[in-house]
Amino acid sequence: MRIAVFSTQPYDAEYLAKANAGHELFFFEARLTSGTMQLAAGADAVCAFVNDDLGQDVIAALATSGVALIALRSAGFNHVDLVAAEAAGISVARVPAYSPHAVAEHAIALMLTLNRKTHRAYNRVREGNFALDGLLGFDLCGKIVGIVGTGQIGEVVARILSGFGCNLLAHDPIENPACVAVGARYAGLEELLATSDVITLQCPLTPKTHHLIDAAAVAKMKRGVMLINTSRGAVVDARALIAGLKSGAVGSVALDVYEEEGDLFFQDLSSSFISDDVFARLLTFPNVLITGHQAFFTEEALTAIAETTIANVSAFERDGQPLHPVRSKGG
Ligand code: NAI
Repeated sequence: MRIAVFSTQPYDAEYLAKANAGHELFFFEARLTSGTMQLAAGADAVCAFVNDDLGQDVIAALATSGVALIALRSAGFNHVDLVAAEAAGISVARVPAYSPHAVAEHAIALMLTLNRKTHRAYNRVREGNFALDGLLGFDLCGKIVGIVGTGQIGEVVARILSGFGCNLLAHDPIENPACVAVGARYAGLEELLATSDVITLQCPLTPKTHHLIDAAAVAKMKRGVMLINTSRGAVVDARALIAGLKSGAVGSVALDVYEEEGDLFFQDLSSSFISDDVFARLLTFPNVLITGHQAFFTEEALTAIAETTIANVSAFERDGQPLHPVRSKGG
């Protein structure tokens, strides 16, 4: 099949080319938007990532140009209008599991860095400043860590944190026995917010989880809480976080995702400026640590993403069905 690959970074091209099984791959650096979708002309499939626009208008235009499959290189599919895809007769495929370890380990890396301030220590030591003032952390052992979303990634987070000796609270509409087996106790969101020293978000973005962490949630949290978000940016209302950080209600924050990340992440803006004032404000806090949606970024995950993406396309070509279809609730 002819596949138009959008939002291509050099590593995407490298890993997809390695996994390819006879398809024609056309790589475009551009994000898929209504302004760039003509690049897909002549393609049978588009291969898209998390910040590509797969809303109703783009999908309708892709269908008109003959695209029959959207192969996502992600697990999350909150950015796809599935109803529009079904109406247009376009199949959607995703990579449901590529490495929960990659994301879980990054969440833990953020937690440890934010707590022990190794990012600040690194810079200090290189400048010959060996003072410890401002680097004080706390023992994770014995702390209550609330995990919101205990699917594949949340489960690995629970396993790792149980090894640290944390007390685990979990919140998820579906209980995961593997989390209970490592000592997690399921609780309502209110209890988790009120009692956790650290809260880590591992749930998908859905209408229910949109701005799950808003001003009302911040008001319920234990004062000085640490919040980690490696799920999707819009699960958190960044303005509410800023207010919480300013009042001291929120002690520290690590984000790998940001609601408006589409105009920022996956590109080098170091010679430009940041026009998003909310993001710029977040960057001014010493107790905020941000990475640019890199939790998935391991060799193992890139290999699995490329292999599953190609397998989805090959299965669609062979059977008219991708290996891992995504359908709307109504479909
Ligand atoms: P999963 O589908 O295995 O688990 C998600 C869990 O969240 C499920 O157990 C589900 O029941 C639960 N959930 C749904 N609604 C909830 C709610 N309202 N409150 C609490 N829990 C709720 O998904 P997986 O693989 O663990 O991934 C989770 C999310 O992580 C993805 O949807 C994606 O948004 C994000 N992600 C981020 C990456 C990154 O690079 N930063 C990479 C991969 C995934």
